[in-house]
Amino acid sequence: MRLKLNVDIQQFLAEAWQQQPRLIRGAFSQFDDLVEPEILAGLALEEGVDSRVIENHNGQWNVSHGPFESYDQFGEDGWTLLVQSVNEWIPEVQQLIAPFRFLPDWRIDDVMISFATENGGVGPHLDQYDVFIIQGGGKRHWQVGARVHNATEICPHPDLKQLQDSFEPIIDAVLEPGDMLYIPAGCPHNGVALEPSLNYSVGFRAPNTAELAAAVADSLSQLEVPLPRYRDAQASSYGQPFNVTAEQLSHVREFLLQSLAQTDIDHAMLLVLSQSKRPLPQADGLLHAEELAQFIVEQPDMLLVRTPGARILIGPNSTLYANGEAWPLNEHNTALAEAIAQLWDDQPLSTFAPLLQNQPSVLLCCELINAGVLDIVAQQD
Ligand code: SIN
Ligand code: CO
Repeated sequence: MRLKLNVDIQQFLAEAWQQQPRLIRGAFSQFDDLVEPEILAGLALEEGVDSRVIENHNGQWNVSHGPFESYDQFGEDGWTLLVQSVNEWIPEVQQLIAPFRFLPDWRIDDVMISFATENGGVGPHLDQYDVFIIQGGGKRHWQVGARVHNATEICPHPDLKQLQDSFEPIIDAVLEPGDMLYIPAGCPHNGVALEPSLNYSVGFRAPNTAELAAAVADSLSQLEVPLPRYRDAQASSYGQPFNVTAEQLSHVREFLLQSLAQTDIDHAMLLVLSQSKRPLPQADGLLHAEELAQFIVEQPDMLLVRTPGARILIGPNSTLYANGEAWPLNEHNTALAEAIAQLWDDQPLSTFAPLLQNQPSVLLCCELINAGVLDIVAQQD
């Protein structure tokens, strides 16, 4: 099933993306829930699934972390179950990302789904993500403000951050199924369920300087490439040994900036951007190129599947990046690489057969399967 987003993309990018919150009524016509609340609740019973219940009983906030054994203790109302990365567990939910692929794939974080009982909510807060919140079944009252700087955050519970002060809403609306909010990172918001309600948050990560620099530095150090090493500026005297002068500081800063410009930082960045949020599931055994070639001929209706959560990117250096690894491309396998990077819905192997007629392409596909980035599975009836 393809979900169609009723949004003027050009206008959205020009006027709202990373700038202004938006309420888009009927963003998805006749939106049917992609999960039942019971299935979501069942998922949060599983080990390895990142879930929380946030309760608000008369202003007393509490946070409990999954996996849960039961929900009886939370009572009838005033609580919300939030489950992260549901797209990685429930294939139907992965479909909700497809309409947002007018944005770069590497920015996609996950689909978080919340089920709120009446009056449930997480309180007024900021997120460090750009997020689209789609209303599923039920109704929720949302307030969203313009981006704030230096807002004071408080923790009514050690695992819950909220805003200390109220904010001026520029959106104040009750969302119904298929309606969508776009909330740029750093805009205050608060949603309170008016009745049992499901919300889908398609999140786009927006790393800060420290997060990005730390990840790129880590990637550079693992590449084992020769890196420039610091040297003091030539001088007849360095002054007092305990003083670090403004000139010396600027020399260190210059060293960092220049060596980043010289080093193959693009490659390190692409490796970082292609890393999956969680380790990809590993294949049971290694697939050999001959076996894949045989499947293409003998079982062309087997499905080629993009592993949910895998980030498959192609860099300007003709290299495919996925799962923090790199595959240099050549004239033979570039077309296949592009088709694979484009792939979102499962497709029969036969769709790819014309692109899998040469050894470099078969090898690339095979290696991506062995890396857990792709999978081939039998067609379900
Ligand atoms: C929720 O779905 O309950 C919270 C989503 C958010 O405010 O980010
Ligand atoms: Co939020």
